[in-house]
Amino acid sequence: MGSTHFGNDVSEVDGELHRILSQEYDNQRRRLSLIASENLVSQAVRQALSGVFTNTQLEGYPGERYLRGSDLADTIEQIAIERARGLFGCAHANVQPHSGSQMNHAVIVGLLKPGDRILSMDTAAGGHLTHGAPSNLTGRLFSIARYGVDPETGTLDYEEIRRAALEHRPQLIIAGGSSYPRRIDFSRFRAIADEVGSLFLVDMSHFSGLVATGLHPSPLGFADVVTSTTYKSLRGPRGAIILTNRDDLTRRIDSAVTPGVQDGVQTHHIAAKAICFKEAAGEEFKDYAAQGVKNAQVLGRTLTDRGYRIVSGGSDLPFALVDLREAGITGADAAAHLEEAGIICNMNQVPFDPRGPKKTSGVRLGVNAATSRGLRDAEFREVGDLIADILDAARTGAPPGGEAATSVRKRIERICTSFPFYDHPLGI
Ligand SMILES: Cc1ncc(COP(=O)(O)O)c(C=O)c1O
Repeated sequence: MGSTHFGNDVSEVDGELHRILSQEYDNQRRRLSLIASENLVSQAVRQALSGVFTNTQLEGYPGERYLRGSDLADTIEQIAIERARGLFGCAHANVQPHSGSQMNHAVIVGLLKPGDRILSMDTAAGGHLTHGAPSNLTGRLFSIARYGVDPETGTLDYEEIRRAALEHRPQLIIAGGSSYPRRIDFSRFRAIADEVGSLFLVDMSHFSGLVATGLHPSPLGFADVVTSTTYKSLRGPRGAIILTNRDDLTRRIDSAVTPGVQDGVQTHHIAAKAICFKEAAGEEFKDYAAQGVKNAQVLGRTLTDRGYRIVSGGSDLPFALVDLREAGITGADAAAHLEEAGIICNMNQVPFDPRGPKKTSGVRLGVNAATSRGLRDAEFREVGDLIADILDAARTGAPPGGEAATSVRKRIERICTSFPFYDHPLGI
């Protein structure tokens, strides 16, 4: 049994799965992903993810594990912690959260009592589910008050947030989210939190790659706790980190991560995070991060020139949010039309969206993965025009996949072929 169990290739073991894996590899190479929560990790990160640490089971933290044989895993976790601390300039880092949801759940459950009040950004305005959406655990366990954006500018109105904080007296204020495309004034939030005696959490998942390079102000001098997924602009494995400078909160946060919301440590993911932090400290990463913001801006400007509205008029982060209300199409229809043309994105609510999250009135266009492939300003001008061609076609009421889709798909494939990645079978 040993030799086949350890020696056989996936193509020999499971033809069905091999076919799907091959197809996905082909899709990723031929199509353009504009999903803001996606990126393309390095070969080194992928090697760590498929390495033998996937075979290990550990619980607890380095030096205080519940299972033996953890020396090398302890070393890896310590390296990851040190690199995260160095990269973001903070005193404490927890590198264990398996996902962004677990990181936020751990912080919130660790710092608050059920029934406490959270003031966070409305989901349609850009906040994340785990910041208190009614369908999420956070919305069910805590009392949630919301702030939104200014209807005219689409940007945060700090006086309004202050008024909401004074009215609701939250125990926790959360800034950051999934589709707010602008920089946040962390000092204004800090002042509001201090005025009402609240803790302040920043979820920097969508801009941590920029913070790592110094291209975006760091929330660490202002927030009590900062969370980030590692797989968006940071270009690491799927998973997350929690950062803080507050010695008095670290124990509570660590024990809220494990045993609070998860158990077994995914050391292969932690190894991949450690590699990602090293890569993010390098010069090449800085160029990529700066280019990501430029690409989102070029994309937004091109679409604006073609008559489409960009929420807040532009972006400071590596994505743009297109408001399709005036165009008269739903986000769901736009995303379906774009998919037929080889452009993958997600429908997204826009501020004050009259449609629910299953239809929406917008699409979010993220540039992380395409920027990692090497697309720059000129290519994003072309991509912007191709997206506008498809949206124009969608506005005629034609079903997805017509003539425009065929011609755009060819041009997208040409661009993608010029920017290949993972030159290995199955990408492994
Ligand atoms: C701002 C933010 N926080 C948390 C999460 C949750 O991450 P996950 O999907 O890994 O649970 C996301 C997901 O994309 C996010 O955008």
